[in-house]
Amino acid sequence: MINFKEEIAKKVAKATDLDGKTLEGYIEIPKDSKNGDYAFPCFRLAKELKKAPPVIANEIKEKIEIQEPIEKIEIAGGYLNFYIDKERLTKEVLKQIEEQENYGESQIGNGKNIVIDYSAPNIAKPFHIGHLRSTVIGAALYNIYQYLGYHTIGINHLGDYGTQFGKLIEGYKRWGNEYDIEKDPINELTKIYIRINEACKEDEAILNACRDNFKKLEDGDSYCVEIWEKFRKLSLKEFQKVYDLLGSKFDSWNGEAFYSDKMQEVIDILQNTGRLIESQGAKIIDLEEQGISTPCIIQKTNGSTTYATRDLAAILYRARTYDYDKALYVTSYEQILHFKQVFEVAKLLGLDEKYIKGLQHVSFGMVLLPTGKMSTREGNVVKLEELLEEAMQRAKQIIEEKNSSLENKEEVAKKVGIGAVIFNDLANSRVKDEIFDWDTILNFQGETGPYIQYTYVRTKSVLEKAGYLPKLEEIKIEKLTDTYAQNIIKLIYSFEDTLIQVTNKEEPSILSRYLIDLSKAFSSFYNENKIIGEDKQTQDARIYLTYSTGKVLKIGAKLLGINMPDKM
Ligand code: ARG
Repeated sequence: MINFKEEIAKKVAKATDLDGKTLEGYIEIPKDSKNGDYAFPCFRLAKELKKAPPVIANEIKEKIEIQEPIEKIEIAGGYLNFYIDKERLTKEVLKQIEEQENYGESQIGNGKNIVIDYSAPNIAKPFHIGHLRSTVIGAALYNIYQYLGYHTIGINHLGDYGTQFGKLIEGYKRWGNEYDIEKDPINELTKIYIRINEACKEDEAILNACRDNFKKLEDGDSYCVEIWEKFRKLSLKEFQKVYDLLGSKFDSWNGEAFYSDKMQEVIDILQNTGRLIESQGAKIIDLEEQGISTPCIIQKTNGSTTYATRDLAAILYRARTYDYDKALYVTSYEQILHFKQVFEVAKLLGLDEKYIKGLQHVSFGMVLLPTGKMSTREGNVVKLEELLEEAMQRAKQIIEEKNSSLENKEEVAKKVGIGAVIFNDLANSRVKDEIFDWDTILNFQGETGPYIQYTYVRTKSVLEKAGYLPKLEEIKIEKLTDTYAQNIIKLIYSFEDTLIQVTNKEEPSILSRYLIDLSKAFSSFYNENKIIGEDKQTQDARIYLTYSTGKVLKIGAKLLGINMPDKM
C-alpha cells in the first residue's frame, strides 16, 4: 500500500535537501484531523537551517507542488499540515482489504529471530493471575511479531527447579501420605509447601535439610529426581487445562531444569573473567561499579545454583540455538532487579554484542484484586482455572439475559468470557497495575473485549441483512468521503503501522487501544448513517466499509488472542 508518510517526507526532502528517512521520523499524525492527516513540525529543522519555524514552513510550502496524493497544505504556527486526497486514500485502503486476505501482514521482519520467554508458571504452585498476564502479553507479542514476518520462538521457561523443590521434597518425605497429590496435585502440593515453610521458620535444621535436598536433586540423587519428576508431570497436566482454555501454544518447554547440566560452563566462563568472587562461602559477581548495589549470586554456600545462573545458561543456549535478534522476557516488574543483574552479568559471557543488545525485560504491573495482592506462601491465591470458568459463567449469564434464543450459547460464552479476561490484561499500558473487577471487564458498553466483539457482531449482522457483498470495482468511492467513513478509513489504513508500533515498544495495548478506536469509529458511523436502505450506490459503499471494518477487527482481535463470535 502506498506509504503517505514516506511520500510526504520525500517531498519535504526535495524542498530542503535533507535526508528523507530522518524527516519521515519527524512526521506526526495530528490528533484532530482538522489539522490535516499528517503534520510536519518545522521547529525540528530550526537549528539546522538557522531560521524561525514559520519561515521554514512557508519556504517548504512554496516549493511543494500540490498533486496527488496531496490535496492541500496549510501552515499552522511552525507546522505544515498535509491533507491527503480522500478518494485516493479510500481507494488504496479498500483495494488492499480486497487483495490481502491477511490484511496488514508484512515481511519486514524476515530474517530476524525473536525469542519470547513468557508464561513460565512454577511447578507445584498454582498458575496464578500474574502468570496469566505474562501468558497473554507474551502470546500477543508472539502473534504480532509473526504477522510482521519475524521468526518467533515462544518459550515456556517453567519454574521446575530451585530451592523450593528441596522444600517440597522434604515436606513430601515427612507428610506425603497425608495428602492426595494424584487427585488434586497443585492444591495438595501447595498445602505441603505452606506447611513446610512454617516448619522452616521454626526450625533452622529443617531449612537446611531442604537446601540439601535441592543439592541432591542437582547431583542426580534417584529418590529426589523421582519425586521431582512426579511433581512436574502432575503440574503440567494441570497447567494444560488453562492453556487449553486460552489457546496457548509454545515452541519450547525448556524450563529451568533443562539448564541443570549447562550451568558449569557459565561458572567456568565467569571464573576466567576474574570477576567471580567468594563471599561468605557463596560465589557472587559484584555489580556495584555497574550501578547495581545488590550482587548477583551465582552459586550458593552449599554449591547449589540459582535462578540467575539458570537464566545465564539460558542466554548462552538461546544465542547459540536461535541466533536471536531480540530475546524478550515477559514477567511482572517484581523481577526488574533480577533481569538487570542477569543482563549485566551476561556481558561477561563472551557473547557477540548483538545478543547483549537484544536482551529485554518486558515488565508489567501487578494484578490487584479487591482483596489485595496474592502470594503462594500465605496461601491466599486466586486460581486461574477457576477464574476463567467464572468468566465463562458470567458471560453466559449476560448472554442469557440479552439474547436467550442464541444458538451455541456455551461456545459464545467461552469466546466472550475468555476474550474479556484477555482484553483486560492488554487494555492498558503494561507497566500499569491492573485492577481485576468483573463488572468492568464484562461491560458490553465499556472499553472491553466484549465491546469489540459486539461491534464485530454488528458488522456481521449488517452483512447478513444485506445478503450480498458488492464488488469493489463497482463501488463509488465518493460515497465514502463523509467524516464518519473517513475516520474508519484512516484507522484501517494505519493498521500495519499500529502493529509495528507494538513491536517498537513491546506494547500490545497499542493494538487494544486501536481496536477500541476502530469500534468507536464504526459505532458512530453506524449510528449516524443509514447503511441499508439508502440509494444503491451509497448502500453498496457503506456495506463494503462495514465488511472492511469487520475484517480488521477480527484480525486484530485474533492477534491479541481473542476469538470473535459471529453472533452474541
Ligand atoms: N517462573 C518465574 C516466575 O514465576 C518466571 C520465569 C521468567 N523467565 C525467566 N527466564 N526468568 O516468576
